[in-house]
Formats: sequence, C-alpha cells, structure tokens
Amino acid sequence: MLDKKNILIGIGGGIAVYRTAELVRLLIKRGANVRCVMTKSACEFVTPLTFDALTGHETHTQLFDLTREREMGHIQLARWADAIVIAPATANLLTKLAYGIADDLLTTIMQVNETPTLISPAMNHSMWESDATKKNVETLKTKGFKFSGPASGELACGEIGPGRLNEPETIANDLVPLLNPQILDNQHWVINAGPTWERWDAVRILTNRATGTLGVHLAHTASALGASVTLIAGPGTPESASRVQRIGVESAEEMLVHCKTAALNADVFIGTAAISDFRFSKLITEKLKRGDIEQLQIELTANPDIVAHVAKMDGRPAHVIAFAAESSAHIDHAREKLDRKAVDAIFANDVSNMGKENAGGWWITPEQTEQIEPLAKEQLAQKLTRQIMELQK
Ligand SMILES: Cc1cc2nc3c(=O)[nH]c(=O)nc-3n(C[C@H](O)[C@H](O)[C@H](O)COP(=O)(O)O)c2cc1C
Repeated sequence: MLDKKNILIGIGGGIAVYRTAELVRLLIKRGANVRCVMTKSACEFVTPLTFDALTGHETHTQLFDLTREREMGHIQLARWADAIVIAPATANLLTKLAYGIADDLLTTIMQVNETPTLISPAMNHSMWESDATKKNVETLKTKGFKFSGPASGELACGEIGPGRLNEPETIANDLVPLLNPQILDNQHWVINAGPTWERWDAVRILTNRATGTLGVHLAHTASALGASVTLIAGPGTPESASRVQRIGVESAEEMLVHCKTAALNADVFIGTAAISDFRFSKLITEKLKRGDIEQLQIELTANPDIVAHVAKMDGRPAHVIAFAAESSAHIDHAREKLDRKAVDAIFANDVSNMGKENAGGWWITPEQTEQIEPLAKEQLAQKLTRQIMELQK
C-alpha cells in the first residue's frame, strides 16, 4: 500500500539516525520512491552518502544551494512528496515545527508542506518528558501531524524509558493509513490468525505450520483503509501495527472465547487461523518421561469450529469469511464448508501455501467461484479485502 508513493524522509540530528537507513530500505522494498533531506546536525552522525546510495538520489542538505534550488528546490520537494516522514525527529525539530520556524531546508519544506506528515521522535526520556516537548507535541497533534512512537526501552545513552525510535517496520505500517482513503471508517473487522497450541504435558504441544502472515496483512490492509481492527493472534504470529488491537491467545478454546466477544456485532469476521481440530483429552501437568514405554495411545477431543460458532451466534457479524486449507478437491470441500458453517464466503487454498511467501486459491461465495493466481501475501490480502468490500455493496 506504499507502492509508487513518493515519500520524503526528513532526518534530524539524533543518535537514532543510523536506524533511518533501515527505514529507507524498507520503504523502497515496499515499492515507495524515497528522497531524503538531512539537517546539518544529522550529517554529523551519518553522511548523506549513505542515503544517496540507498535511494539512488542525491540527499538534500542545503537550503541555499542555488543549482539545486533551481532543479529541485524546497517547494518542488514539498510538492513532489505524497507524504513526509520525520525520523528521527529531535526535540529541537519538534520545537521548530510547533512554532513554525524555518531556518534550514527541512524546516522550510515543512512550512510549504501540505501533505500528511508522520513524526517519529527519538530522544532521551527526560527530553521527551520535558514540559517543552510535551507542549510541542500537543501543538503538533492539534495541527494534524501524526506520530509514530517513541517506543519505551533501553535508550542509546544507556538509560531506560520512553524515547526510542519506533521500529522501522512500525513506522512504515503507521505511514500506510496516511496515504490511503479511509473508506472503511466506522467499520469493525475481527480477524484471527496463526496456529493454535494444544498443550499435552509440561513441554509438548500439538500445533501446525501456519505462520499467521496473511492474517496480519489482512489486519493491516483493513486498518489502513480506516477500519478498527481486532486481531486475535495465535503463537508466533508476526508483529502487527500499533493501530491494530491485538489479543494474543494460545489454544483453540481461548481463541473461541476472544473471537466470540470481539466479533459481536462486528462488520466483518475473517477466520484465517489454522486452529487445531483436536486437543488432548487429558492434560499432563508434569513432563512425561519415556521410561519403559514403547507404545503410547493418546486420546484426542475435537475442538470447537470457531468460524461456524461466530457465523451462527446471536449478534453475528454482518459478513463472516472462512479459510479452508485443503489437500484435494479444494472447491468441492470448500463449498460443503460454506453451507455447513453458514459463512458468506470462503477462501480455499492448498495446504502447501502454509509458510510460503506467495499464495493463491479460490474465492467462493454461494453465487461464484473465482480463481486467484498466486500473489505475495500482502497483495493477496489486498485482493481479498476488495472481494470482502464487494460483498458489502
Ligand atoms: C551524541 C549526541 C546525540 C544526540 N542525540 C539526540 C537525540 O537522540 N535526540 C535529540 O532530540 N537530540 C539529540 N542530540 C541533540 C541534537 O543533535 C541537537 O539538539 C541538534 O541541535 C538537533 O538539530 P536538528 O534538530 O536540526 O537535527 C544529540 C546530540 C549529540 C551530540
């Protein structure tokens, strides 16, 4: 959702500058065109050459550079950008932006800027918690600037507290909604993702190879379009953006409880999780020792069918979408599930998609079956989101 977007990165003079290089790489990897502007202080930490090499464009540092002012001056740079990210934003930059000071290239661009701006502060925790910074952040939020972070944890100075630059992945995720129309505003989508763990004894579990990647991409896509999203995530599900409300669960029974509560009267429920069909009938609290045992009989009990429960409950979401991983007769099996589970659509795919980068399958509703060619999971999530929005028409 950042594909072909023009992103201008404003880089302030903080110790976290080296992590901006990673952010630039990530944005380019996600298809964005990136250009960088560095403050004089930023150039004390990392040379512009780093960002020249990463972006393939000259990094801008000077306001009074006549050639560049003619070619790509501060006004053109501001107009070129679809969005601006300031990372790291120093305490000094926050002050200048709050008061409209324009005494270098970056702050002058910001005076011209009319595009959405994401500010990612990074500084010592005392600086972040100072009255001046608090007031500046308040002013900037009132002016419509969006913030990503800072995170809490160990800071470069060795102290602990709020002030760490957000992870590049989180900054990129927080940028996406600024660049996309909020067409799912006022909707609540609930998505489950990942595998479940069924405990057997103190160390052993029953699980599967699902990663939860597609579920996370669906959560990001829907929330980037303005939906409020609850993600109920099994163990190992990848990190999700801070705008997604995440509930971590372990077993199928735990997942059922949270899905039913979260999905009550929701607009959409998507069941992407690979929920263990069975759990151990008896839980062993100690670690089972092999001893003299040569053969062991294990008794399993069927787990609840979560998507069917959600589709049949009082206060059912307006649309319920199931996923079916099949190893044969994909369409026939999925159609049978569509009826039995009383869902509105089902995405059937092959079990071999589990853990892979790309996946394709069949989008099946009572009226149609559409084949979806293999796509990267981020693109597949966007395609499926569009299919769900079609159901809502
Ligand atoms: C080693 C060192 C590390 C610094 N780290 C930060 C920082 O993380 N955050 C911050 O707000 N200021 C930091 N500063 C202070 C800024 O560099 C200083 O306020 C500077 O004027 C910021 O300029 P700029 O906002 O134009 O980039 C640091 C200074 C030094 C010498």
